[in-house]
Amino acid sequence: MVAFQLLTGRTRHSLSGRWRSIVDPYEAGYRTFYGEPWEMGWFSDLPLRPGVAEYDWQKADLLDVPGDWNSQDPKLFFYEGSVWYRRDFQHEIKNGQRAFLYFGAANYETVAWLNGQEIGRHVGGFTPFAFEVTESIRSGTNSLFLKIDNTRNRSAVPMTSTDWWNYGGPTRDIELVETPETFVHRFGISLQENEITGFIQLDGPLSEGQSVSLRIPELGIEQEIESDSAGTARFQFSAEPERWAPGAPRLYDVEIESGADQVSDRVGFRTITTRGSEILINDEPVFLRGISLHEEAPNRPGRAFGRDDAQTLLGWAVELGCNFVRLAHYPHDEATVRRADELGLLVWAEIPVYWNIDWENPTTLECAESQLEELIERDRNRAAVILWSLSNESPHSEARLNFLKALVDRARQLDSSRLLTAALMARFVEGGMHIDDPIGEYLDVMGCNEYLGWYYKELDDVADVPWSTTYDKPLIMSELGAGAVAGSIGDEETIFTERHQARVYREQIAMMKKIPFLAGLSPWILKDFRSPRRVLPGIQDYYNRKGLISERGQKKMAFDVLRRWYLEIED
Ligand code: GCU
Repeated sequence: MVAFQLLTGRTRHSLSGRWRSIVDPYEAGYRTFYGEPWEMGWFSDLPLRPGVAEYDWQKADLLDVPGDWNSQDPKLFFYEGSVWYRRDFQHEIKNGQRAFLYFGAANYETVAWLNGQEIGRHVGGFTPFAFEVTESIRSGTNSLFLKIDNTRNRSAVPMTSTDWWNYGGPTRDIELVETPETFVHRFGISLQENEITGFIQLDGPLSEGQSVSLRIPELGIEQEIESDSAGTARFQFSAEPERWAPGAPRLYDVEIESGADQVSDRVGFRTITTRGSEILINDEPVFLRGISLHEEAPNRPGRAFGRDDAQTLLGWAVELGCNFVRLAHYPHDEATVRRADELGLLVWAEIPVYWNIDWENPTTLECAESQLEELIERDRNRAAVILWSLSNESPHSEARLNFLKALVDRARQLDSSRLLTAALMARFVEGGMHIDDPIGEYLDVMGCNEYLGWYYKELDDVADVPWSTTYDKPLIMSELGAGAVAGSIGDEETIFTERHQARVYREQIAMMKKIPFLAGLSPWILKDFRSPRRVLPGIQDYYNRKGLISERGQKKMAFDVLRRWYLEIED
């Protein structure tokens, strides 16, 4: 079951805090010497073999939840494998209430037990999931055990090779959520022309033929709808809401009531379309002044999460003069997307179909589709999100094309209101760059990653490189940039210095000004980030240094080069 949406009015108990943890590289708490699952593994206090207790939860180490394990303990910096977590919590069962455990995300594969009973499993490192525990929760003390395994593998999404740190563990909040027996599982609402349209999906024994009310008080809207045999209430009515737009983030309270359930959400109403090589918001062409972000904390090592990190990271993007952010290369925390809604920042959201994956493996496609579905179901009501990106720099092949076409179909089925894109690669043709990736035919917007002036092409020649494409579609230059060590001012010829990075940006900007079908850009990247591939001693030290800001928050010269152009365009 896709996780329900965390709506205002839901009864939520955060399980954040210090959890007991046991590092288990050999799965000793899960499998016998011969690899069979234990009857009674470390998901209980009982010894694996009668009388021979070889683990002790009361003496186990403590780790913060939410939080990746890599940045909490030097022993775990490079660790890939399973870590067990345990937390006891009090609960009082109320009759007629249902109970769920909701996970904002956990990287990469999670198995959960409550009071010794397995309650669910999830694969995928960046999307929410929930397990119903109505039958296994009890009044009094409950013991929740997790085994989270971040081992990379060939059928996973992403596969084994990425340019980001494989942060493992419960990287976002875990909550106990209580609902009425029949509750609003999820809803979708959007503006199509001058009509507000959508659905409300109920879950529970009284879902069918149920009266559901939808209110938008500031628009004087009050709709009474009846749910069908599948518990779905569909609505469509004319309305003239003030439009949400970059720089004018108008949000409305949408209230939903059904039986004993009363929930609400803050929603912006806008339309998003393309016209030739233009992207239109509310029928007005918009140039996307963007920046790419990884989900790394702005002022401490490790994965970012929650409102404060979102505010700092997006605050830097606003300071840079952005109206757009590319949340690379995987779904970021819901708090970040909600903050973008409030700030009026447009969002490129992405699933981690990154570089090469096992294109011919049905399990891999299923995993990519479930991550796409979990992303869309979580963020479908966020006006800021205008693009679903289905892959990054994946090499051409028939298998890859078929895989991505399946994702295009699934995305359109789940949400026909947004634009589909992918970060493609251009081909070097006679003296210029040409975009004709076959998947481009099925996308609404072409993304393109290029590193002219860094990985290839003399810096002096970049400004005059011509661009062409076979598609009459908007182009977003989804990556460009260069590395620099903050504080190493250097000169325009010496790589990894600030002056050189600033020069690459100046030459790139000169080139982009001449691309007629360019609708925006999201240079790589807002902040230096951890990567196992970037090992140059004294320069990288396991950091990718293409940030405009260092991991200590120091702005580099290129930050101002880009900012000046963005402010010039904005005017
Ligand atoms: C690629 C890739 C990024 C990577 C970047 C780089 O474009 O999409 O994830 O970090 O190159 O080389 O820095």
